[in-house]
Amino acid sequence: MANKVTINADIAKSKINRNIYGHFSEHLGRCIYEGFWVGEDSVIPNTQGIRNDVVEALRNLQIPVLRWPGGCFADEYHWKDGIGPREGRKRMINTHWGGVLENNHFGTHEFMLLCELLGCEPYISGNVGSGTVQEMSEWVEYLTFDGVSPMADLRKENGREKPWKLKYFGVGNENWGCGGNMRPEFYADLYRQYQTFVRNYGDNKIYKIACGPNVDDYNWMDVVMSIAHKHMDAISLHNYTFPGSWEDKGPALGFDDSKWFSTLKNTLRMEELITKHSAIMDKYDPDKRVGMIIDEWGTWYDVEPGTNPGFLYQQNTIRDALVAGINLNIFHEHSDRVVMANLAQIVNVLQSVILTEGEKMILTPTYHVLDMYKVHQDATLVQTNYESDLYELNGEQIDQLSVSASRDSEGKLHVSLCNLHHQNGADVSVELRGLSGGSFKVLGTELTADQLDAHNSFESPNSVQPKPFSAFTVQGGTLSVKLSPMSVTVLEIVEA
Ligand code: AHR
Repeated sequence: MANKVTINADIAKSKINRNIYGHFSEHLGRCIYEGFWVGEDSVIPNTQGIRNDVVEALRNLQIPVLRWPGGCFADEYHWKDGIGPREGRKRMINTHWGGVLENNHFGTHEFMLLCELLGCEPYISGNVGSGTVQEMSEWVEYLTFDGVSPMADLRKENGREKPWKLKYFGVGNENWGCGGNMRPEFYADLYRQYQTFVRNYGDNKIYKIACGPNVDDYNWMDVVMSIAHKHMDAISLHNYTFPGSWEDKGPALGFDDSKWFSTLKNTLRMEELITKHSAIMDKYDPDKRVGMIIDEWGTWYDVEPGTNPGFLYQQNTIRDALVAGINLNIFHEHSDRVVMANLAQIVNVLQSVILTEGEKMILTPTYHVLDMYKVHQDATLVQTNYESDLYELNGEQIDQLSVSASRDSEGKLHVSLCNLHHQNGADVSVELRGLSGGSFKVLGTELTADQLDAHNSFESPNSVQPKPFSAFTVQGGTLSVKLSPMSVTVLEIVEA
């Protein structure tokens, strides 16, 4: 077979909601503390305690939305512990993640400031597992009520006169597991109850997100949708990529080609999960009013040797870049249902886009993919068909290519192409249909490396970097592209 892509640029499909490029931050390891929060007295340059270098790097990604405070932490978090003068805030042990001291110095005000600095929407996960209906209801009142009320008054006492705007609110996290070990019937009823008191104040309209299934728990999706779909705007799905299994994750560095292959094969499973969960949602919601939100996705490896096992700190390689590119291509193709996705997690935890060490900061290969792909944000997915050579290893096979294409508001066509093969390049013929111009101007950017675990480190921060890409020729309406092994490439095509 040959690698052949056909792009029908005039056949518009769904809009790629920019929220698909969302992120996730939890009170876990060094994500919030050190990753964002260094405190006002830190020698690290900061704005009211939030480090400037990280904010600046993230602003470049145009991140649309940030989820907080968890994760499993969300169902143990009591928001009133994180407001008021910092020195008076409760100190406690983060029992879930590493048994370290949580001093609550980063709370609601700090998170909302962070979102303002990043220019993104906040997405808050409320506590169903160990919190009360009143506590959840009061949090929304504290954040969004403009007028005289106990919570609005408390907010004002804490220095914030005007309410914030808050759109995205999750009613619990992983309530089938760390969020309470509930059965779907029980959670669905609790969801109906809790969400009733998540109020819309003034013109603030909350978009309510129910806790959805883990991976392939189709029963959870079916039961929660059947009982509660009328009361939700969206439902989540969590799916992490392991090279092996949960019990045998394998290292982030120093892996062999079989682990490269299995990681990418497992990543491709996202397609099946979204398709099957979507089909269940269609039973109750054929008009696709309820969105699917993949609010935790990414790779999960063994922690870096010598680090706290509860901190989930891992390095990030060209393999992670491929995982990101493949997942994003899949999310694009399902953007009629997938309205948001949140990469886990933004800094220093799991598949991060940024790693920090003291005052140093590096950008990971995953960061570069999100940077290259940001042209797809809010663009229109266009119909793309492709035939791919097979990538075979140890008797198993997967497609060598992953492809997606969209058109932005200026009419520019962007094509993202991943070559999954660890050794072989790919000659790809891209037929462009539905463009009116007779000739095209093409620009390309490529992220690749020549080692399976190529990565950026604090000693060598620019080992894996995007480079201009010109290994293509244009003839009539067809592009002949030569992709490097293990590469992510984005082409911009403009009618001349
Ligand atoms: O991202 C790490 C953890 O993974 C989150 O806290 C939890 O929701 C999931 O199991």
